Amino acid sequence: MGLSEEIAKRRTFAIISHPDAGKTTLTEKFLLYGGAIQTAGAVKSNKIRKGATSDFLDIERQRGISVTTSVMTFQYGGTLINLLDTPGHKDFAEDTYRTLTAVDSVILVIDSTKGVEPQTERLMEVCRMRQTPVIVFINKLDLEGRDPFSLMDELEEMLSIRVRPLTWPIGVGATFQGVYDLYNRNLRLFESIKTRKEATSERIDDLADHRLDQLLGPGPAQELREETELINGVYDPFDLVPYRQGKLAPLFFGSAFNNFGVREVLDTFVRIAPPPGPRETDQGLVKPEDPEFSGFVFKIHANLDPNHRDRMAFLRICSGQFKRNTFYHHVRQDKQLRFANPTTFLAAQKTLVDEAWPGDVIGLYDTGNFKIGDTLTAGASFNFRGIPSFSPELFRELVNLDPMRSKQLEKGIRQLTDEGVAQLFTQQPGNKKIVGCVGELQFDVIRYRLEHEYGAQCAFQAIQAHKACWITSDDPAALENFIRIKTTQVVSDKDGNPVFMAPSAYMLDLEQRNNPEITFHLTSEFKTLQA
Ligand code: G4P
Repeated sequence: MGLSEEIAKRRTFAIISHPDAGKTTLTEKFLLYGGAIQTAGAVKSNKIRKGATSDFLDIERQRGISVTTSVMTFQYGGTLINLLDTPGHKDFAEDTYRTLTAVDSVILVIDSTKGVEPQTERLMEVCRMRQTPVIVFINKLDLEGRDPFSLMDELEEMLSIRVRPLTWPIGVGATFQGVYDLYNRNLRLFESIKTRKEATSERIDDLADHRLDQLLGPGPAQELREETELINGVYDPFDLVPYRQGKLAPLFFGSAFNNFGVREVLDTFVRIAPPPGPRETDQGLVKPEDPEFSGFVFKIHANLDPNHRDRMAFLRICSGQFKRNTFYHHVRQDKQLRFANPTTFLAAQKTLVDEAWPGDVIGLYDTGNFKIGDTLTAGASFNFRGIPSFSPELFRELVNLDPMRSKQLEKGIRQLTDEGVAQLFTQQPGNKKIVGCVGELQFDVIRYRLEHEYGAQCAFQAIQAHKACWITSDDPAALENFIRIKTTQVVSDKDGNPVFMAPSAYMLDLEQRNNPEITFHLTSEFKTLQA
């Protein structure tokens, strides 16, 4: 099979949701359909249970999501599906945002009893930024959920995306009878998993058909007729173009737990979701069909084997063919690297891979060469853009509690921040280390891992900082002057770039107004954009 056939048969996506909406359950059902797992319950939820704040076992579980579940590859029909896992807990949202740079589309799960939740909004913001195509699955129809029309209004309003139902629910909660497939004109009658032997499906071409009254009862049948008419009158027909542009989201209703309405989503997904697409670099677009191999690292995972310090870098292949034991160019380090044991994750098993294609995600054993965002190519020297590094919101000074182990602490904090667990800043004079995180839990993870993996003891001390802003200017003298005046508030990031630690929103605003020649960037992403 050639490059274009390999590309055409691949779909790389993530399932995203606010915690508890049903992401893990839906993932599991997909894997069952794909034959990647044999029994329900095989996918372990990687979320931290509600109420847990700094329970180390939970932290271990969270960061210890087995490497094999970070990406799950399975076949469905003729399609090779790469499903990327995203952590549910909000303190690990940054990891999720970065994973979204490596997918071509997403399925968003909404809990029908809750509607749009805070994490749903943030995740969709990232999807909108990247114009990622979205399919929506409204879950838990077996519970007393909200009215589907009001849910759709809420989705459109709060997520700024148009929706188009492709299935429509009949009743909700206790009165939930099933879904009508508006496009295939198929009625699927719901039976709870406890009682169901075989799903019942009836083709109903014309909703006026009196069989509908017999199957659903005259009241619900009439309601379905009226609601269908309303939907077809109010919502535009589904159109692939705006879907692929991330402007229109097809919508499904069902119950992941009861494996109801799930196959419809999967079947539609393989039909409409985009194959691996082009990616932006600092030297123009790279197309998957380009014969030269290229890819980028979007995640680094510590190895779970405590006897080995090595890590696994997850690389999304963007163009050409990747081959084992071939030298590739590590652009940032200007170095040639060769990989003897690249892995893929077919059927939830880690397997050695000899070749991989655009859309695939492979795991590369790494002894410290990679940072998140690194580009690997067949020889060219471009960098992929847009792997975001979000501005941390919590800052603490790292205090060394065991001066005999300062080398280990230094090495540990560097490696952990390379993994993207947190961001590291250094303040001079004194070489003070400041760690910035998106969520409180990450400080506990760092402290725990420094102790257990590097034998270093540390504490975190609160500091007065509101935001880290990377500062640049077209006028080098102005920048130098600002750094000199604000010396106690300017720190360096790991690459030596100056960063202003704004003590408060008010001060940030003030400095921005007083220093119009300086640009304050809230993420370090501008570096790749400028390069
Ligand atoms: P997440 O990954 O998005 O965080 O959610 P997860 O799939 O773990 O689902 C959260 C809870 O919602 C689970 O219950 C799960 O069984 C339940 N759930 C998922 N889909 C449905 C559905 O269609 N209907 C109903 N009624 N419940 C659903 P739990 O009690 O928190 O966990 P568990 O003990 O069942 O694992």
